[in-house]
Amino acid sequence: MITYSRLLKDLSANPKTWLITGVAGFVGSNLLEQLLKLDQKVVGLDNFATGHQRNLDEVRSIVSSKQWAGFKFIHGDIRNLEDCYEACNEVDYVLHQAALGSVPRSIADPISTNNTNIGGFVNMLMAAKESNVKSFTYAASSSTYGDHHALPKIEENIGNPLSPYAVTKYVNELYASVFARAYGFKAIGLRYFNIFGKRQDPEGAYAAVIPKWIAAMLNDGDVFINGDGETSRDFCFVENAIQANLLAAVAEEEVKNEVYNVAVGGRTTLKTLFSALQSTLLDNGKSYTREPKYVEFRAGDVRHSMADITKARKLLGYSPEYNIDRGISKSMPWYISFLVE
Ligand SMILES: NC(=O)c1ccc[n+]([C@@H]2O[C@H](COP(=O)([O-])OP(=O)(O)OC[C@H]3O[C@@H](n4cnc5c(N)ncnc54)[C@H](O)[C@@H]3O)[C@@H](O)[C@H]2O)c1
Repeated sequence: MITYSRLLKDLSANPKTWLITGVAGFVGSNLLEQLLKLDQKVVGLDNFATGHQRNLDEVRSIVSSKQWAGFKFIHGDIRNLEDCYEACNEVDYVLHQAALGSVPRSIADPISTNNTNIGGFVNMLMAAKESNVKSFTYAASSSTYGDHHALPKIEENIGNPLSPYAVTKYVNELYASVFARAYGFKAIGLRYFNIFGKRQDPEGAYAAVIPKWIAAMLNDGDVFINGDGETSRDFCFVENAIQANLLAAVAEEEVKNEVYNVAVGGRTTLKTLFSALQSTLLDNGKSYTREPKYVEFRAGDVRHSMADITKARKLLGYSPEYNIDRGISKSMPWYISFLVE
């Protein structure tokens, strides 16, 4: 098993071709930035359903023009099989991130979530299999643990899904394992636990909690806490998720056809998160003095979430470098410049 630092050196010395679906989104654009910095060739597929051209523009402004020349963007849709075939052509590693995220979005519109997250997923599996890619790594979700109460969450113990979104992410895992059985095509699923970091969209009805609260704090608006504030999550900085993706892409055959928790193994309540964001803002010269407002629990939400990351540590060599506090400190300057300056 390769270490992450070794892998980064090997990739720089021997560049590969990667496909990132959902490349204009939050996780996708962070993967793009890292891979281009490593002088890789990258194909990106996105339909801008929730992603933004500005994310691609930002990556372009960070990497060198030579590195940017290694990127080919396809404005396309994973619901369209032809687009998936075009994107997979001559690709070594697929990092499949495209999906409609958000539990509340899926409750409001289960059909769109289903079409993209399941129909699009099967298209991508087929196209990747037929194109003989070296590996297929996909974004699964901690929502698959559903109503299973045990903490920490261990990969094999899942409960019933609590939202249409959770159903779609679980069906992804089922399809991936059926593709292994039926065709010998072995994918790797990464069950992300509340990933956060720069370029996570602070705007819109379905924004995730960290960017949504930072935006409210910077605008001196109200911060709403759903429930009693004791709901907890294993917040995971995006650099950790990038590490997991790259390690999974090059993993040995025997550790494929598996799912892995991608998190830190910590647990932060919403109340604690509120204080952490407030104090990191202060470190950056901004103050927020209002009290949070408590509102109803949100339908479909899991009450507590904390991962056991032993499996990813042992079989992928995953070793998260950022805890929540370091991650928030790294993210805050980006939000201040995006939202204020
Ligand atoms: N961010 C998290 O905390 C988290 C947690 C668990 C799982 N995930 C999963 O990780 C992946 C990335 O999430 P994110 O937070 O970066 O979300 P995001 O919304 O920022 O990115 C998703 C990207 O997929 C694109 N997309 C959507 N439908 C598409 C389609 N039909 N064809 C092509 N592109 C399409 C969007 O335009 C967007 O750029 C998703 O699969 C999501 O379900 C994220």
